[in-house]
Amino acid sequence: MNAGIIGMGKFHPEKIVTNHDLEKVMDTSDEWIRTRTGIEERRIAEDDCDTSDMAYEAAKRAIQDAGITAEEIDLILVATVTPDRPFPSVSCMIQHRLGAVKAAAMDISAACSGFMYGVATAKQFIESKAYRYVLIVGVEKLSKITNWEDRNTAVLFGDGAGAAVMGPVSKGRGVLAFELGADGSGGSQLYENEQKHIVMNGREVFKFAVRQMGESAVNVLEKAGLTKDDVDFLIPHQANIRIMESARQRLNLPVEKMSKTIHKYGNTSSASIPVSIIDELEAGNIKEDDIIVMVGFGGGLTWGAIVVKWGK
Ligand code: UT7
Repeated sequence: MNAGIIGMGKFHPEKIVTNHDLEKVMDTSDEWIRTRTGIEERRIAEDDCDTSDMAYEAAKRAIQDAGITAEEIDLILVATVTPDRPFPSVSCMIQHRLGAVKAAAMDISAACSGFMYGVATAKQFIESKAYRYVLIVGVEKLSKITNWEDRNTAVLFGDGAGAAVMGPVSKGRGVLAFELGADGSGGSQLYENEQKHIVMNGREVFKFAVRQMGESAVNVLEKAGLTKDDVDFLIPHQANIRIMESARQRLNLPVEKMSKTIHKYGNTSSASIPVSIIDELEAGNIKEDDIIVMVGFGGGLTWGAIVVKWGK
C-alpha cells in the first residue's frame, strides 16, 4: 500500500508588506531584494494571529479537501520553528480546535525542511498500517523572530501555513521515495539567538543550499528508480530564486516546470513547499500521475527531498 497526499489547504495573513514598504523603514531597495532574492512582497500576520491560528485554518481546509472528518485523523504533525510557545505543541492546540479527538499529536523541528520530514514520517505510519490518515502542517510566524534592524535577514521572511492530509492512495501513486538529512555542525550558520531573533550567515547558507538542493533532488530520483527525464514538476523550498534556479538547472528542467511563489510570499520556511504545491495545482500546472520532486533545506542544518506520483 502506498501513502500519498489526498487533500491540501493553506492560509496567508491578509497584510501584504512590499519591498517598497521595507524601503521606508530600513536601508534597502526594491531593486536589491528583487534581483538578489526574487521576493517582491510577503504576508505578515497581525498580533492576534499566532502560529496555531494559521495552522488551524490551513488544516481545516486540507481536511475538507481530503473529504474526511477531523475525527478520522490518526496523527497530527506540525512542522514549525515558531510555535506559539514551547508547549503545549501547536499540533495539540489544533488537535483540540479541529476536534481530532482520536489523533496523536507532535511538532517537528526541522526548520525549512520540516514539511519534508513530516511527509516522510507520515509515510511510515500509513504504509505500516499503524495509522490511516495523517495531517501534516508546515506553518511559520517568522515575523515574531525577525530582527527588523537587520536588513540581511528582515527582507527575506514571511508568515503562512500549508497543510496536507496523507492517506492510502492507489497502487503506483503517492510518495515514491524520500531523502532526509542533517548536519548539526552547521548549526551556527542559521539559528535563533538569545534575543529570539533569526541570525544567518547568508553566504554560507547559500553555498550549502545550492549544493544540497541539487544533490538531494538527484539522490531521491535515484532512490525512486527514476531519472531527471521523468520529472514533470519541481517544487523547491522558496528561499531565494537563485538557489531555486540552480536546482532546476541540475535537473535540466525548463523554467515553466519549476514552482515560483517566492515573489508573493517571501521565504515562509516549512510552509513554502505545501503552499507552492497548492498554487501550482490551482494554476493547473500539476496533473494526475505527474512526477513531482519537492526539495528543501534549512536551519539545523537540515535537508529533505520527496518524489511523488501525484493523485489519489
Ligand atoms: O530558508 C533558508 C534560509 N536562508 C536562505 O536561504 C538564505 C541563503 N542566502 C541568501 O539567500 C543570500 O545570501 C542573501 C539573499 C541572504 C544575501 O545575498 P548575497 O548575494 O549573498 O549578498 P551578500 O550577503 O553577499 O551581501 C552583498 C551586499 C552587502 O554589502 P557590501 O558588504 O557588499 O557593501 C550587504 O550588506 O548586499 C548588502 N545587503 C543589502 N543591501 C540592500 C544585504 N542585505 C541587503 C538588503 N538591502 N536587504
